[in-house]
Amino acid sequence: MKVLHMSSRSFVRERPLPSDLVLRPERVDDDPAIEALYASAFGPGRHVRTASRIREGTRPEPSVSFVADRRGLVIGAIRQTPVAVGGAPTLMLGPLAVAETAAKQGIGRALLLRSIEAARYTDAAAIVLVGDEPFYGPSGFKRVPHGSIVMPGPVEAHRLLQLPLRATVSGPLTRRR
Ligand SMILES: CC(C)(COP(=O)(O)OP(=O)(O)OC[C@H]1O[C@@H](n2cnc3c(N)ncnc32)[C@H](O)[C@@H]1OP(=O)(O)O)[C@@H](O)C(=O)NCCC(=O)NCCS
Repeated sequence: MKVLHMSSRSFVRERPLPSDLVLRPERVDDDPAIEALYASAFGPGRHVRTASRIREGTRPEPSVSFVADRRGLVIGAIRQTPVAVGGAPTLMLGPLAVAETAAKQGIGRALLLRSIEAARYTDAAAIVLVGDEPFYGPSGFKRVPHGSIVMPGPVEAHRLLQLPLRATVSGPLTRRR
């Protein structure tokens, strides 16, 4: 069955997922598998990036963090971390990764849509991320006008994206807890 997801700004068609695959909330015991997936997708340089530095020492928000589980194997994962932007509760999305062996089956987009939908039930005003606009744009993410969100380290300005849930956030991005 094809499901049409409606965000405030776009329609994204979610492909039917392979029948042996479930998307489920991540559990604490998934940590090693998720870390291995991220290490393979992003390589050793990932820890020095600004987004990683912000996430350091903060648990991802469990209600919006999901894994793609194929018969007990984690083959995809998405996380969001609570932050604040200009004092407003905000979620910072990422990392999102799918195992290379399972790429292009719709799993990445399905994880993204599931995580966005779950975020609507949190107190977050918006979701921000650092990523590729061509991938995230169809789900409603838009480029942040230069300088309107002040990151605590260097990011490529054209990769800083925002999806407003209740409001458009602006100001300095800081840790929430
Ligand atoms: C990006 C990623 C999560 C996509 O997962 P996936 O399960 O292959 O994605 P889907 O099958 O749902 O969607 C694939 C579509 O997204 C497109 N896509 C993938 N990466 C993209 C990118 N960086 N920019 C634009 N489009 C992209 C593919 O071309 C494909 O398009 P098509 O459906 O028109 O053929 C996966 O490739 C990955 O883990 N990459 C390495 C880590 C990474 O870059 N994560 C994103 C951080 S910004």
